[in-house]
Amino acid sequence: MLQLTNITKAWNTGTGQIVGLKDINLEIKRGEFVTIMGPSGSGKSTLLQIIGLLDMPTSGVYSIEGRDVMGLRDADLARIRNRHFGFVFQKFHLLPELTSLENVMLPMGYAGVPLAQRKIRAQELLNRMGLSHRLHARPTTLSGGEQQRVAIARSLANDPGFLLADEPTGNLPSDQGAEIMEILHALNKEGMTVIMVTHDEKLGAQGTRTVRLKDGLIEQIVEREPWTK
Ligand SMILES: Nc1ncnc2c1ncn2[C@@H]1O[C@H](COP(=O)(O)OP(=O)(O)O)[C@@H](O)[C@H]1O
Ligand SMILES: [Mg+2]
Repeated sequence: MLQLTNITKAWNTGTGQIVGLKDINLEIKRGEFVTIMGPSGSGKSTLLQIIGLLDMPTSGVYSIEGRDVMGLRDADLARIRNRHFGFVFQKFHLLPELTSLENVMLPMGYAGVPLAQRKIRAQELLNRMGLSHRLHARPTTLSGGEQQRVAIARSLANDPGFLLADEPTGNLPSDQGAEIMEILHALNKEGMTVIMVTHDEKLGAQGTRTVRLKDGLIEQIVEREPWTK
């Protein structure tokens, strides 16, 4: 479980303070499919980054599986981040000079997985994403949807419990976006906790819970039954 208590994020700039998140209270349980919605600038990406330990709040308490992570050293934060979280971004963020296979193998290298195992697991993950014929392709030769599927395979490399996706379909035509949603739903059915930022009301409504942000505040939370096609 992820537990955010009175989380605030602010930045000091030359012209004053910018507040990104104000007093956020949110619990996310294993197995949920949470969608985060709200206008541009409402704090969605900031919230996702804090959840995934890519950024730290200015104040508040954050605990992951019961462990308070505020005040941990960077090395401990990186370890917890790598163990618990997979990330998928709007612009894929693949390394252009690496093949699909190499992109997916990379995070396992950081985690110390032996080369042979890295390769086998990366192949399995890419097969699962329907990309067995694109193992040695470089990102620029793939469609947007294919690149995002490589990115999802990479996010799964170290077997995270939580998949964090920031507008994962935002750069894709709707048919390719729908494929990505199918993959996220299939993963969620197998137990993956999915937390997805989206602008798209239809996609947002596919979550078991929707958190709506406005000006850094939680404006509304809606819960619903798991999505079925
Ligand atoms: N590193 C930063 N420094 C200063 N302000 C930031 C920074 N990151 C985000 N912000 C501001 O915080 C607010 C929320 O941003 P963000 O979380 O990216 O919104 P969203 O993803 O909902 O569009 C915006 O006003 C944005 O300009
Ligand atoms: Mg954003």
